[in-house]
Amino acid sequence: MRVAVVGATGAVGSVMMRLLEQRPALADGVVAVASARSVGRRLPFRDGEVEVRALTADVFDGVDVAIFDVPDEVSQRWAPVAVERGAVVVDKSAAFRMDPEVPLVVPEINPEEARRPPRGIIATPNCTTLAMVVPLWALHRRYGLQRVVAASYQAASGAGQAGIDDLWDQTQRAAKEEEAVTSGRAGDVLAPGAAFPHPIALNVIPQCGSVREHGYTSEELKLCNETRKIMGLFDLAVTATCVRVPVVVGHALAVHAAFEREVDADEARALLAGAEGVVVRDDPTAARYPTPLEAAGSDPCYVGRIRADLFDARALELFCVADNLRKGAALNAVQITELVARQGRS
Ligand SMILES: NC(=O)c1ccc[n+]([C@@H]2O[C@H](COP(=O)([O-])OP(=O)(O)OC[C@H]3O[C@@H](n4cnc5c(N)ncnc54)[C@H](OP(=O)(O)O)[C@@H]3O)[C@@H](O)[C@H]2O)c1
Repeated sequence: MRVAVVGATGAVGSVMMRLLEQRPALADGVVAVASARSVGRRLPFRDGEVEVRALTADVFDGVDVAIFDVPDEVSQRWAPVAVERGAVVVDKSAAFRMDPEVPLVVPEINPEEARRPPRGIIATPNCTTLAMVVPLWALHRRYGLQRVVAASYQAASGAGQAGIDDLWDQTQRAAKEEEAVTSGRAGDVLAPGAAFPHPIALNVIPQCGSVREHGYTSEELKLCNETRKIMGLFDLAVTATCVRVPVVVGHALAVHAAFEREVDADEARALLAGAEGVVVRDDPTAARYPTPLEAAGSDPCYVGRIRADLFDARALELFCVADNLRKGAALNAVQITELVARQGRS
């Protein structure tokens, strides 16, 4: 297939290029597209390079699948253009996720929905949702999920290259100001960067995205709405507090999940160990549990700290971690592209 990567120079797009590089059977040709700022840049690809092209309608000519890793408003405008030119669009942005005519696909959960998308667009979920929903699905099938309460610990790269740059710049600045930092004056020497409303180095920020209705942030509402849509559980109660932490890559969530039926922690551990796309790391006495540093650069959704609620026989506590740029973004889109390719062949 010929695949276009729109946003090839960004945090997600760069990982996407690497994943496609490793899959010659999926994509024999790649068109790299970005903003006017990057036109003419040469990106390494397999044995050679590809030149970044500007986003115009003709970049989609002859393209089978166009993967969009760009801001919402860019997807909103250009995804329909790619469809008109004959491509199936796999969109990583939030532009179409809640559109009833656009399937929101996680291949481990609802692969059948990638078949014949009515608008020619398939959406892929938010990176925080993805880290949680894959393990929860395995538990739901056995116990019947009723309620989820989550607190996230989200990496700076979740806000794109600007988030990564802010974290590095501020961390380096803080390292030169040891005296101020150790005397509790870090806030005096660190200023907010481009991506977050407060300094992210040496800090945690209880706001991911913009503040929306009922005091929830856009990220918290995405976690709720997208989880329901992916699982097809439109009455599922989901509430979350999303927090940005000074980690480069890897989103983590502490999850309280309540079910219709009584749960057993050992059985849940075994179910999760057998679930597609999930790896269990769960032996706290040996300091064995998922961490973002371990998850970064790898594919699975990791889960650990699996234990029954002390006061509710129908509830479990879990700690979930995934690489937000891989399973949380580029890898999920590549898996969807593989589904599209298989349908094309069948
Ligand atoms: N980061 C994550 O963990 C994550 C996870 C899931 C979903 N997403 C979503 O994926 C999308 C990309 O995120 P990111 O983190 O990779 O952001 P990013 O690092 O800021 O990259 C944005 C990309 O979009 C390109 N772009 C921006 N404006 C454009 C325009 N007008 N025309 C063409 N290209 C344009 C940029 O090109 P230039 O380099 O030329 O500016 C860059 O390649 C966003 O919708 C985001 O919400 C991100």
